[in-house]
Amino acid sequence: MTLTPDNDIPRISTGVAGLDEMLSGGLVEGSIGVIVGAYGTGKTTFALQFVWEGLVRGETAIYISPEESEESVVRYMAMKGWEIGKYLHTSFFVLKLDPTNFNLSINTIRNDLPPLIKKFGATRLVFDPISLFEDLFESEASRRYEMYRFIELLRDQHCTMMMTSETARDNPLSSRHNLIEYLVDTVILLRYVRPDDRTRVHLALEVVKMRRSPHSREIRPFEIGSDRVEVLPAVDAL
Ligand SMILES: Nc1ncnc2c1ncn2[C@@H]1O[C@H](COP(=O)(O)OP(=O)(O)OP(=O)(O)O)[C@@H](O)[C@H]1O
Ligand SMILES: [Mg+2]
Repeated sequence: MTLTPDNDIPRISTGVAGLDEMLSGGLVEGSIGVIVGAYGTGKTTFALQFVWEGLVRGETAIYISPEESEESVVRYMAMKGWEIGKYLHTSFFVLKLDPTNFNLSINTIRNDLPPLIKKFGATRLVFDPISLFEDLFESEASRRYEMYRFIELLRDQHCTMMMTSETARDNPLSSRHNLIEYLVDTVILLRYVRPDDRTRVHLALEVVKMRRSPHSREIRPFEIGSDRVEVLPAVDAL
């Protein structure tokens, strides 16, 4: 299927050509997307490729994680052959949150993030994974309310954002709390596909939702290579 891009909507490239094509040219500028997938499906890889694309285009990016330190992010990007050194602390910033300190994490994000985005002039922001942040709330009601407020706060920043979320324990098609999908603009789902011949596990991707834009509904295989992710044409075998 060929999608006709709506040229009136400014797009932000994800850094993955095949995914941009599925998104009619990329994420809508200023929108918030989430990549949902089980462990090892490539969430962090997609998120960092989105960051890298911005950096080489001369943009500023912030990567927030309760899991990954600056050192490990830099090491991962260097392993991909991306020369991150000249961008680090000038147009690329890594913010490590403490997942065990709920109040500190919430306050850091609420109070410090909007001024940081402005100060650095960030146009891309990654939160990897948002599901660890969602885990911090004690009740379903407070999670819903606080996450809604949080997303609204982020929406005001005019920065294009890519979050990641782990899948629910019992459902590989849903984020951990089945909540973030409703709050954000674009949902990209990564999953494992085990064909009948059982010779190899494949990775596949689909765009489940995209507000204000047409998008592909194909399920397309992708591969994580040594230097980049590649989305392949749809095949019947999947
Ligand atoms: N250099 C490489 N070449 C090929 N494949 C790689 C390479 N590096 C990583 N991978 C693949 O990428 C997978 C990990 O990707 P990534 O860390 O992006 O996943 P994730 O969804 O973020 O995982 P988690 O939920 O554990 O954070 C590995 O399991 C491996 O299959
Ligand atoms: Mg990860």
